Amino acid sequence: MEIIIQPTPDDACCIAARIIARQIQTKPDSVLGLATGSTPVLLYRELVRMHREEGLDFSRVTTFNLDEYIGLPPNHPQSYNRFMHENLFDGINIPRERIHIPDGVTNDIPGFCAKYEQDIVDAGGIDIQVLGIGTDGHVGFNEPSSSLASRTRIKTLTPRTLADNARFFDNPNAQPHHVITMGIGTIMESRRILMLAFGSNKAEAIAAAMEGPITSMMPASILQMHPSVHVLLDEEAAGKLERDYYYRWVFDNKPDWQKH
Ligand code: GLP
Repeated sequence: MEIIIQPTPDDACCIAARIIARQIQTKPDSVLGLATGSTPVLLYRELVRMHREEGLDFSRVTTFNLDEYIGLPPNHPQSYNRFMHENLFDGINIPRERIHIPDGVTNDIPGFCAKYEQDIVDAGGIDIQVLGIGTDGHVGFNEPSSSLASRTRIKTLTPRTLADNARFFDNPNAQPHHVITMGIGTIMESRRILMLAFGSNKAEAIAAAMEGPITSMMPASILQMHPSVHVLLDEEAAGKLERDYYYRWVFDNKPDWQKH
């Protein structure tokens, strides 16, 4: 795991965008796994800028989103489908048929989830998976106690996650309690993982996930078992790491060929 601590979310997102851009330039038909929430917004803004100003070409890229609320149609203002179009897809040249987002209104949830898994395999697997983290350590919507081998499926949100995400819903009764999410096993099959976390409310989860024991009670801790993870943090999210001095030293002393 490479833990990179930057002064601001903007600085961290610029590094994340450069890693993704290099991936797409090296392999134009890359498969990206994408996340929602407030955390990746600046990353997506930077990718849109790179597309407009530097010609970063998404025409052969395929994407798979982590999750979606059950019961929200794609054009619902709080659906993750709408979020992705507003924050990324409408600003880049990705063909619509290459975008995959779980269908929150499918009437066959198990069938849809099995097909989503198969679609990822048929696309050649995910090259880079972008992840945020919940304050309880969830990734995607894999809440604490999720099997660390889980696949795409329905999950029930915890009261804590419902409270964290209530800010996006004007009417609390409109907030779904169920979601479709890629599983932890699905996420772990990605070739590379980019986790982003910003703000002091993520500091505890980041410290527990990066430096604590691997446990399904802290789903993000499974990333310790992945061979290629970058964790991009601002100072606040890094605030509770015990070995932050070491991560900073590693970053500041990288050989030129390894710099981001
Ligand atoms: C939701 C999403 C996660 C995201 C998390 C954190 O639960 N399903 O993918 O990482 O929220 O959200 P935020 O980035 O808004 O803090």
